Amino acid sequence: MVHEQSARHFQKSKQYLASGVSSTLRLSMKPMPVFAAGGSGATVTDMDGNRYIDYLLAYGPLILGHAHPGLTAAVCEAAAKGATYGLQHQGEMELAQRLTEALPCADKVALSGSGTEAVMLALRLARAYTGKTKIIRFEGHYHGWADTIFTSFPSPDMQQSASGLQGRNTAGASSAAAGSSAKPGTSGQSAAALADIIVLPWNDVAALEETLRRHHGEIAAVISEPVMCNSGCIAPHPGYLQRMRELTAELGVVMILDEVITGFRLGLGGAHGRFGLLPDLVTVGKALGGGFAVSAVGGKDAIMELIADGTVNHLGTLNGNGVATAAGIATIRELAEGEGAAFVRMERLTERLVRGIRERLAACGMQGVVNQLGPVFHMMFTAESVVESFAAFGNRDAERYARFAELMLEEGVMLRPTGLWYVSAAHEEADIEATLQAMDRALARLAPTIGGVR
Ligand SMILES: Cc1ncc(COP(=O)(O)O)c(C=O)c1O
Repeated sequence: MVHEQSARHFQKSKQYLASGVSSTLRLSMKPMPVFAAGGSGATVTDMDGNRYIDYLLAYGPLILGHAHPGLTAAVCEAAAKGATYGLQHQGEMELAQRLTEALPCADKVALSGSGTEAVMLALRLARAYTGKTKIIRFEGHYHGWADTIFTSFPSPDMQQSASGLQGRNTAGASSAAAGSSAKPGTSGQSAAALADIIVLPWNDVAALEETLRRHHGEIAAVISEPVMCNSGCIAPHPGYLQRMRELTAELGVVMILDEVITGFRLGLGGAHGRFGLLPDLVTVGKALGGGFAVSAVGGKDAIMELIADGTVNHLGTLNGNGVATAAGIATIRELAEGEGAAFVRMERLTERLVRGIRERLAACGMQGVVNQLGPVFHMMFTAESVVESFAAFGNRDAERYARFAELMLEEGVMLRPTGLWYVSAAHEEADIEATLQAMDRALARLAPTIGGVR
């Protein structure tokens, strides 16, 4: 497969665009960051004319696939009427209403543009509501790149930022922040910004209970992904999130579920709807906008009221803009159609794909684990028989997987180099079949070329 145009454009881009990519993670793609020319449904085409079945899906947002006709029409119509006003408008209200109807824990919502901003607002609300400052977060989770929450974790596609810690101005970045076990995720990040962060192992009830009981007088919130999608797609142990709910409620601590990945992916009600949980606050982004920049915090009235009464500032020039809200409304409308038939379909196809992957790994004697929940899963090469903790996730052969992703690209399948796959409503049976056939070829080439687990 030729990547001549991608290579040429990448070189040129680096002359004008710092690093040649607009988000550091994108540098991890091998053999190089691919330049897209267009996308349609479940496929994306690069500037060399190569066509790929896409499971990167723009790192999650493309739940309806590329250039979905209904979503595209809604966005074009909104743009033609004026993309943004800095005034209130019908679309903003409609999206907010749909969100409160879809998300069980949301009496009210506040709109922003990215998952990072939604998390920033949720943390601010929790601190204002409780009058406390410390935040419990968990190893292996990712909550965006704001200084007050971004911590390092050993993910190969974060290596670029990790290597940035070594040479340059590492003030504050090389050691844990005072009074906190959280290490900054990048140079330039103030260690002091993480002073209020307590990092705990996830899925560990005892550690959570012990810390909450000991320090609840200082702890404003516990923030957690409901499924550890950013490190192995690890499901919560039965009862773990329920216990988190009970303890936080008992001890006056706000429970925030960060559903930036799981929201509108595990169902219209996100993971908390699926698991029957009522956190105090929830953050959604990615799939909500189907590829457009919109995110939200949803929560109970008593907390969201802090925005209404002026206690908490929620700001953003483009918040609730016409294009973003039209995208959110159209995405929810499409996903809700036929009583959520798209979720059932995506899940069925994903199960089929995962079954096929497991069969292939077994057939060629490669040790691997695939953790799946709904239309998202993590595939890894590892000698572990199950991966249910961040420690076990750390034992995977990340380099081997990155090589596998590169071989899959050669075979016409676009994967994230870490192992996290997303399936969209645009994927079809034929895509799954073609993907599994591509995998047969990639695995055959992978075996002799790299050492490590077999
Ligand atoms: C769980 C979670 N929270 C927050 C974020 C940050 O979202 P964004 O990249 O839109 O700022 C991400 C991004 O991957 C995420 O996975």
